[in-house]
Amino acid sequence: MSERYVLAVDQGTTSTRCILFDRRATVVSVVRSEHPQSYPRPGWVEHDAARIWRDVQRLIPRALREAGAGPEQIAAIGIANQRETTVLWDRATGTPVAPAVVWQDTRTGELVERLGRRGDAAIVPELSGLPLATYFSATRLRWLLDNDPDLRVRAERGEVLFGTMDSWLLWNLTGRHLTDVTNASRTMLMNLATLQWDDELLGFFDIPRAMLPEIRSSSEVYGHADAVLPGVPIAAAIGDQQAALFGQTCFAPGEAKCTYGTGSFLLLNTGTELVRSTHGLVSTVAYQLAGEPAHYALEGSIAITGSLVQWVRDGLGLIGTASEIETLARTVDDNGGCYIVPAFSGLLAPYWRSEARGVIVGLTSYITKGHLARAVLEATGWQTRDVVDAMNADSGLALAALNVDGGMTADNLLMQFVADVLAVPVVRPMVAETVSLGAAYAAGLAVGYWSDLQDLRNNRHRAGQWLPAMDPGHRASEYENWQRAIECAVVWSRP
Ligand code: G3P
Repeated sequence: MSERYVLAVDQGTTSTRCILFDRRATVVSVVRSEHPQSYPRPGWVEHDAARIWRDVQRLIPRALREAGAGPEQIAAIGIANQRETTVLWDRATGTPVAPAVVWQDTRTGELVERLGRRGDAAIVPELSGLPLATYFSATRLRWLLDNDPDLRVRAERGEVLFGTMDSWLLWNLTGRHLTDVTNASRTMLMNLATLQWDDELLGFFDIPRAMLPEIRSSSEVYGHADAVLPGVPIAAAIGDQQAALFGQTCFAPGEAKCTYGTGSFLLLNTGTELVRSTHGLVSTVAYQLAGEPAHYALEGSIAITGSLVQWVRDGLGLIGTASEIETLARTVDDNGGCYIVPAFSGLLAPYWRSEARGVIVGLTSYITKGHLARAVLEATGWQTRDVVDAMNADSGLALAALNVDGGMTADNLLMQFVADVLAVPVVRPMVAETVSLGAAYAAGLAVGYWSDLQDLRNNRHRAGQWLPAMDPGHRASEYENWQRAIECAVVWSRP
């Protein structure tokens, strides 16, 4: 009998990938397609959801072709996706009714401020576990409805539907309007304790219930991928950062990972207990297996890390490819006194200052592009440190090691810097594609391709480790400089 595989669709911010895994979690084939980022006004970021769906339709058969596999060899499909991005479409035609508003978009800054002044604003963090911020879906959805009264009327009648990218793809693949708890937990509309849409939150944001998808677990058969691979079950949908936690097999409370992509996201599994942060992290659902209680996580979300390198490549033209940032940074020994705070769309965890803007400080004639490249990489290290400090303060425990994954982990200079500024070992697993692997694992578990969590743990192998080597005095003084640079990014935004 020919071998069977699980197919993961990772619909990310900058690209969509399809990866086929075998039982040992070996990557059998990978195909990928970038989609355009549209910046129609300062602070606005949009995607074309129809184009993303076309990419998925093209990529799935290509992934099978590359592996020489037929549809009968695919045990299940799992979807991982960029979270919070808001898609609205027409139920009858299946066509998006507006550009998808991406999680980095800050157009709702004023709306967030206005809502924040309401006497009942405290219900938002209380019920959803999230701070009232532009990052999450609810204010984007409200903005879209406010900007077209006809849309609101149609949404109230259930003719216009809302979804994050998981819902959009599930709708197109199966014809059903569903989402999973991890994605729902990022909308600011779900009650984190009941795991259902919350009437008080819907009232607060003025969102019609008729347009919302049904919330399901992250690992169950939602339907079949009849539009692309007839008969193949779609058996997982999970936010990409939660998928990475699952792919890293961080199933036990206290286990954490950081994924370095467009942005970077550190998640700490807190078990079936919902833990609330008092240091600027968000409480979120980590995953829920069918018929089991949800596992929660504390998350530190950083908006701009890999996308700062992209900006150096595309916006400044200082490098030709993203990987050249390391080569350029290695032309100098240190940052020369220069720090970059990439608050392009405000600052997320642990600061939550949507009005902050990016700054480069410490410029002198001595600074070369090599120093700038170093400051770019160091910004990712320091932002990780900010989040780890908050996590340690919240959990009362010091993180012993950091599991990492994502594209930027190929940068050795950066990974060494992260170990240096955190003063703990940084560990990378053999399969760097942990987002896809997590989606594949959740789908494979739902259809019995893998039998249990231990089966998944057995697939984990360490590929790289970086040990801290920075002098503690130097670490402390550099961190102080970073914090002063953060103050500049916040001060700059003041009118
Ligand atoms: O919360 C946003 C996050 O899910 C985006 O991740 O990897 O697609 O940039 P990524």
